[in-house]
Order: sequence, then structure tokens, then C-alpha cells
Amino acid sequence: MNKLSAHQGRFIVFEGGEGAGKSTQVKALVAKLRAQGLEVVQTREPGGSPGAEALRDLLVRGDATRWSPMSELLMMYAARADHLEKVIRPALERGAWVVCDRFADSSRAYQGAGGGVAPAFIEQVDEAVVGHTQPDLVLVLDMPVEAGLRRAHSRGDAENRFESKGVVFHERLRAGFLKRAAQAPDRYRVIDADREIETISADIWSHVHGAFADLRGV
Ligand code: TYD
Repeated sequence: MNKLSAHQGRFIVFEGGEGAGKSTQVKALVAKLRAQGLEVVQTREPGGSPGAEALRDLLVRGDATRWSPMSELLMMYAARADHLEKVIRPALERGAWVVCDRFADSSRAYQGAGGGVAPAFIEQVDEAVVGHTQPDLVLVLDMPVEAGLRRAHSRGDAENRFESKGVVFHERLRAGFLKRAAQAPDRYRVIDADREIETISADIWSHVHGAFADLRGV
């Protein structure tokens, strides 16, 4: 897999629906990679750079109908362009590992599969904005929608605009993530996120270890 990357560093992305426990697992993986002596940049989307974080505030707060899926898509990719230019590409170019909480597959799932924006249009925008900076490995944290939404609601924060879109929407995006993962099994791993935190993080570590020869010292 490493030989195929267009960059020097390694680019790992966590994806999944609401309440799947991504942020806990991102932190656990980053700590394990740092314990190997690697330079790791931990980041997230929407956001990850000052400009993209400003766009994030517009995207994740307020009424569910505040933006159409098309407006969301273009704002997500505007934020992503800034994040790529200011943070992700410079890190990959100096050989760092980048671990990102959500990336373009969230746009394919939330704005595409969930929101109805045409997949062909999303791929055109993706080609222009992300281009060759595609993730080396995508970990999809999967769990039943109702259980994930219950967990997300219990957090009770203000960033709940997407949570409030209803169960049918969330079922569509779960199916979207799983379909995408099935299309590129070399770069995707689907992780059962409805288990103990330590069991999930051990599973993730074994997938990451298996995917990157440099972690195995070969
Ligand atoms: P995130 O902070 O990961 O929220 P959570 O921890 O609740 O999963 O992401 C914020 C929201 O933004 C989340 O509901 C998913 C949504 N989102 C999109 O709709 N499209 C995108 O391209 C991205 C990156 C996120």
C-alpha cells in the first residue's frame, strides 16, 4: 500500500456515523504511533486549520435545514481545500503521519448518500480539491444507527446539526460508508464499533500494523 501513495508520509482517516466513538479511537491510535517515535499530526474535519474551523462553526450548528446538501458540500470542500493546503500536505511532505477524524468519505456519505448530491459531481470536486492526496487507510467505525444516535445525544453538545437529521438519513449514510468500503477493500477496514473501547482500539492497531510495513520494521 505504501508504494502507491503519492506522498512521503502516511495518511490515516477515521470515518463513521454519529456516536461511533471516533474521537476516543483517534486519540488512542495517535498515542500508539507517537510511542513508536513517529511524528503524528492529529487533526479533524470539518476543521483542522483556522479557516476551516471558522467554516465548521457555520456547518455544525443551528437548524438542520440551515444549509442545503449542495451548500454543505461546497462549504465542506472549501474547508477541506484550506485544511489540505495549510496542514495535511505540508505534514505529508515532511514525512509525518496524519491521523484525521473524518475526511472526504463523510461528504460522500452525508451530502451524497444521505443528502442526495450526485456522486459524479462530488467526484469532480474531489478530484480538483483532494487530487492525489487520498488517504492510505480509512477506518470505518460502524455501529447500529439507533445506538450511535443515543450515544451522540447523551453528549448533549451544541454541534448537533447533523445528528438532528433523523434516523432514515443516518441509515442512508451508514449504507454509503459500507458500500464505499466494499469497493476498495485494500484501503478500507470496517471496524465493529459496538464493542468495548479497548477491544476496538486493539483491533484498529492490528489493522494499522498490518497495513504499513514501516511499523513492522521491514
Ligand atoms: P464530527 O466533529 O466528527 O462529529 P461527531 O463527533 O458528532 O461525529 O463531525 C461534525 C459533523 O459534520 C458530523 O455530523 C458529520 C458532518 N460532516 C459532513 O456532513 N460532511 C463532511 O464532509 C464532514 C467532514 C463532516
